[in-house]
Amino acid sequence: MEVVILPDAAQIGTVAADAVEALLARKPAAVLGLATGSSPLAIYDELVARCDAGRISFRHARGFTLDEYVGLPAEHPERYRTVIDTVFVSRVDFAPGTVAGPDGLAEDIPAACAEYEAAIAATGGIDLQILGIGTDGHIGFNEPGSSLASRTRIKTLTRQTRIDNARFFGDDVDLVPTHCLTQGLGTIMAARHVVLVALGRSKAEAVHQLVEGPVSAMWPATILQHHPHVTVLLDGGAARRLQLADYYRETYLSKPSWQGI
Ligand code: GLP
Repeated sequence: MEVVILPDAAQIGTVAADAVEALLARKPAAVLGLATGSSPLAIYDELVARCDAGRISFRHARGFTLDEYVGLPAEHPERYRTVIDTVFVSRVDFAPGTVAGPDGLAEDIPAACAEYEAAIAATGGIDLQILGIGTDGHIGFNEPGSSLASRTRIKTLTRQTRIDNARFFGDDVDLVPTHCLTQGLGTIMAARHVVLVALGRSKAEAVHQLVEGPVSAMWPATILQHHPHVTVLLDGGAARRLQLADYYRETYLSKPSWQGI
């Protein structure tokens, strides 16, 4: 696990976009895992800028979102399929129909989840997964107690996650759905490169557990310690509880110039 502490979201966006640019250069038909939430927004903005400038293209790429609320009507602005379209997909040049998400309106939810797993596998798997992290250590919507081997399935959101996400629902926690579909921890672990971004002090404890805590279903993101290629991009606030912060800073500064994340 590589930990990179940077001054702000914009610089995190640049470093993550460099990794996506390098991936697209060697594999134009790359498969990207796309997270919603506020943390990756600077990454998406930077990718849009590079696409506008003709530096990168998503013409041959594919995308899969991580998770989705159950039961939000198709026209609801907070449906994650809509959100990812608004913040990223519609702003770049993905071909129509090449970005998919779990179907939170499916009548047969287990079948929809199995189909989603099959669709990811059919592309050859996710090359680069962009991730955020919840204050309780969830990734995707894999709440504490999630099976570390789980696959796409329905989950019940914790009260804390619904409170955290109420800001997207007019600050009314009762409007936040109670259930979601999410890629499992096993699904996320199958991505070839995981780039996790965390911003701000509210994430400091979850980040400390992720990087330095014991692997535990109580902090689901800790499963990433078993992944061979994870990059954790942090601002100073999110990094403030890390015991080895100075070491991570020195390590990043002294990286060979040829070595990306
Ligand atoms: C949400 C999403 C996650 C996201 C996380 C953090 O509940 N399901 O995919 O990473 O919470 O969100 P934010 O980046 O807005 O803090």
